[in-house]
This record gives sequence, C-alpha cells and structure tokens, in this order.
Amino acid sequence: MIKKQGDAAILAIETSCDETAAAVVVNGRDVRSNIISSQIDLHTLYGGVVPEIASRKHIEKINQVITEAMETAQADWRDIDAVGVTYGPGLVGALLVGVAEAKAISYAKKIPLVGVHHIEGHISANYIENKELKPPFLCLVVSGGHTHLVNVADYGTYEILGRTRDDAAGEAFDKVARAIGLGYPGGPKIEKAAHRGNPHAVEFPRPKVSDGEYDFSFSGLKSAVLNYLNGCQMKQIPIIQEDIAASFQKAVTDVLIGNAILAMDAYGVKKFAIAGGVASNGTLREGMRRACEARGVEFYHPSPVYCTDNAAMIGAAAYYEYIAGKRSGLDLNAVPNLKLGER
Ligand code: KG4
Ligand code: ZN
Repeated sequence: MIKKQGDAAILAIETSCDETAAAVVVNGRDVRSNIISSQIDLHTLYGGVVPEIASRKHIEKINQVITEAMETAQADWRDIDAVGVTYGPGLVGALLVGVAEAKAISYAKKIPLVGVHHIEGHISANYIENKELKPPFLCLVVSGGHTHLVNVADYGTYEILGRTRDDAAGEAFDKVARAIGLGYPGGPKIEKAAHRGNPHAVEFPRPKVSDGEYDFSFSGLKSAVLNYLNGCQMKQIPIIQEDIAASFQKAVTDVLIGNAILAMDAYGVKKFAIAGGVASNGTLREGMRRACEARGVEFYHPSPVYCTDNAAMIGAAAYYEYIAGKRSGLDLNAVPNLKLGER
C-alpha cells in the first residue's frame, strides 16, 4: 500500500446493526477501501432488523469483508497501524462479532486496538470528504437509533446539547413507512414516495419538548400519523401514501431543522454538520443548507454512502483516537448502551 512516513493506516470494522463493514483509512480522511455487506434484503422479509439474524450474518460475512477491504486497499498487515472497531452502542450480539474479530487481529498481528463509539463514527464521516473541516462545530446526528445535537468541541470531545426523549428520527421514518404500507427500510421509501406528494396535505404536529431546549420527541408525531390513518379508515377516505409521506417528512425535518437553528444561533458557530442515515434525506439536507446559508454558517454533510452505517467513518474516528494515544485492551467488550464521551 502506498504510504508516506508518518501516515497512520487504520483497518476499521463496523457490525453494530445490519451492515457488516470493513475499511482501510489513512490519516482519518483518505479512504483506501470501504466494503459494506448489507443485510437489508434479509431483514425486509420481517419488516425490521432481527438481532439473531444480524449476528449470524455478521459471523458469516466478517472475514470475507475484511479480506476484501485489505485487498482493495492493496494493504499488507505491516501497513496497518491500528485496528478500529465499533464497540457500542448497538445490538449486543452484532457488536460482539466485530469486537471479537478486531481483538483476534490485534492479538495475532500485534496491532494496537482502538474501540470507537458508533456516533463518534457517524460524526467523523464528515471529515472524509471535507478535508478542511476541523472542530469546533455543531453536528446533528440522525440515525435509526439516535437523534443527537452535539457540540464537537474538539476531536474526541463531545457535549450533547439535545437528544430524543423517545423515538429516533430514523425510527419514526421506519414506523410510519410500515404503517402506510411502504415497508422497510422506511427512510428511503418515504423520501421516494414524498417526491410525488404534497407536504402540506396534512398538517401533522411539530412536537416541542418544554423542558429541554434542544431535545426532540417523535413518538407523538408517529401517533398523529396513526390517528390520521385510523380516521381515514373510519370515514372511508382513501389514503394517499405520497401525501402522508411528504407531510410526515416535512414535519420531522421542520423539527430537526428548528432545533438545529436554535443551537446554531445560541452557540454562534461558524460550521454545522449533519450525520447518520437520515442525513441522506434530501429535504433535510436542503433545509439545513438554506438555514446555514442565511446565517453565514458553513454547512457540511457526508455523501449518502458515508451517512448510513459504514466502516470508513469508524476508521476516521479511530484515527483521531489513535493519534491522541488512546488504546483499548484485549478486554474490550461490546457495550450496547455506550454513552458518547464515555470510555
Ligand atoms: O445510520 P444508520 O444507517 O443506522 C443507525 O445507526 O441507526 O441509519 C439508518 C436509518 C434508518 O432508520 C433509515 O430509515 C434512515 O436511517 N434513513 C433515512 C434515509 N436513508 C436512511 N431516513 C430518511 N431519509 C432517507 N433518505
Ligand atoms: Zn449508525
């Protein structure tokens, strides 16, 4: 592998949910390979992620995915300076596969091990294509499991300003998609249907949390959609999937953008980033771009492939942990409810 003196190459592994992923990343920003084996088709049969199936598939795929990541990067084990792995949060059985694999490589090849927080990975996805981006900045992390508004004070230093009190934004997309018969995964299907719908057809609520300025709550919005569907059924009004998708998407993104603006104004930041699976949503990206532009704030977002789960983002996060001297021992364990900033 082509590598200059002083470069640090990370082999990164991600298995926290339903993608088995491995990547080789140099200096946190230069992605030499990014291999993702998605299980979406399998889980679609059941309408959501089945943890048992996820773990079993990770075991089947992990070696193949790592071999492919090493080969694509033309990397030799001697090129790898550290193994970075997601150890939480996520599904415990799924996380364990990646953690056990990373520990085995670290032990057998005598390569340092660096445990990475999954959300830190999502945030760090922004470093890959935005070479000039450096902390401090604010980041809205919106995925299937998390909705966090984070102050990225420095590499590895995070302050959570707001979080969801109930459902994550992606979870709301997935649940509403199922309710209107679009299936799994909900986010991309709602976005596609919404293109043909009217976002003002149904005025769904924009829930506010009274005692947490930057907190979110999406379960009320999900209930409002379910109530609307019941109402239509009772009154025998036909359900227009596209209109509900567009109206729901508008409500969720209005709330996300609203809190992002509050934080942006209060913190007087110059840079704002978004991350996580929902960050690939066009309405959210466009709304955030406009909000940032109006305030003279630089807006950052990863390409869709780096928004949803991948290992390149874990390699980016692991690099900054690695150069800060952080190492994990062979006693590293999966921590399904790991908090950001905790180790
Ligand atoms: O980050 P991610 O791959 O996994 C987690 O860490 O949770 O996010 C997956 C979530 C799912 O809920 C999915 O429906 C949502 O991201 N998502 C989207 C879009 N693409 C994925 N939500 C809205 N619009 C999209 N285009
Ligand atoms: Zn994720």
